[in-house]
Amino acid sequence: MKILLFGKGGQVGWELQRSLSPLGELIALDFDSTDFCGDFTNLSGLSNTVAHIQPDVIVNAAAHTAVDKAESEPDLARTLNALAPAALAQAAAKCQALMVHYSTDYVFDGSGTLPWRETDATGPLSVYGATKLEGEQLIAQHCARHLIFRTSWVYAARGGNFAKTMLRLAKEKDRLTVIDDQTGAPTGADLLADVTAHAIRQVMQSKAGWGLYHLVAGGQTSWHGYAEFVLAESLRHQPDLQLAAKAVDAVPTSAFPTPAKRPHNSRLDTQKIKTTFGLALPQWQAGVSRMLKEVL
Ligand SMILES: NC(=O)c1ccc[n+]([C@@H]2O[C@H](COP(=O)([O-])OP(=O)(O)OC[C@H]3O[C@@H](n4cnc5c(N)ncnc54)[C@H](OP(=O)(O)O)[C@@H]3O)[C@@H](O)[C@H]2O)c1
Repeated sequence: MKILLFGKGGQVGWELQRSLSPLGELIALDFDSTDFCGDFTNLSGLSNTVAHIQPDVIVNAAAHTAVDKAESEPDLARTLNALAPAALAQAAAKCQALMVHYSTDYVFDGSGTLPWRETDATGPLSVYGATKLEGEQLIAQHCARHLIFRTSWVYAARGGNFAKTMLRLAKEKDRLTVIDDQTGAPTGADLLADVTAHAIRQVMQSKAGWGLYHLVAGGQTSWHGYAEFVLAESLRHQPDLQLAAKAVDAVPTSAFPTPAKRPHNSRLDTQKIKTTFGLALPQWQAGVSRMLKEVL
């Protein structure tokens, strides 16, 4: 099996380089790759890359993920999140490849308290959410053989993440203030990559199971609950860790105004992916604890 991966340097892309390599020949590109074009602002270049490589599977981990910045550069966000994935989907259809892509809980308006299902009505609140939704729709329109995984609150040991920021602040300040009215599931890039490899294998073997799936770790928390867990778990792993912060204060989203509106309810229902692929998704605390052990 020949797999063509875009966005190899991102959180998910980096983990995909590991998880996809046992499936076959892996060609992994970034925006500045020199052998083939992996730049999402160059749509014809992307099409040429696919036409030249003739992959069996295209996996797209590249995106415009700067949610607030997207509000002031909507055209670039649309190019990266919708038009480039659409060009890849068209090229995938031409060579009968499977197109794999990631989307987000930000396609929903965040109302209510029930976990969102794949069939629920969307209603993005931000440019990022709207462009990611358009990307999903264009992929489905151009390439029937697709897997789209909507996920949330992605972290990885590599690079910056919320947990590392909380740890740094907890060393500097005696109190932390964190939002407690957005609920979701922190999801490891490693889990996303492992499930992606499993799903690709199953779909390629059974020639069935294409479609849209919600994919997040089990359980739910708020950013405030996430921060409290990070500090407590870090101290459990490393009892002599010196933290100045003695408490994490809970505040509403309105305490930290941002250019982009974010959904309050980011819960995603994962029944469909668990049933289709025979998977168990671990509770979010397990992956965060493991990541903390790696970064401490
Ligand atoms: N992060 C989250 O919390 C989250 C939540 C829900 C869904 N998702 C989705 O999950 C997927 C993976 O996200 P992630 O967290 O791994 O994102 P990420 O770490 O920000 O990675 C995105 C990648 O896209 C690359 N990129 C930027 N501009 C590009 C261009 N013009 N051409 C080609 N590549 C370009 C980035 O390169 P540079 O780093 O060099 O700019 C980076 O390698 C995305 O589809 C995202 O929408 C993420």
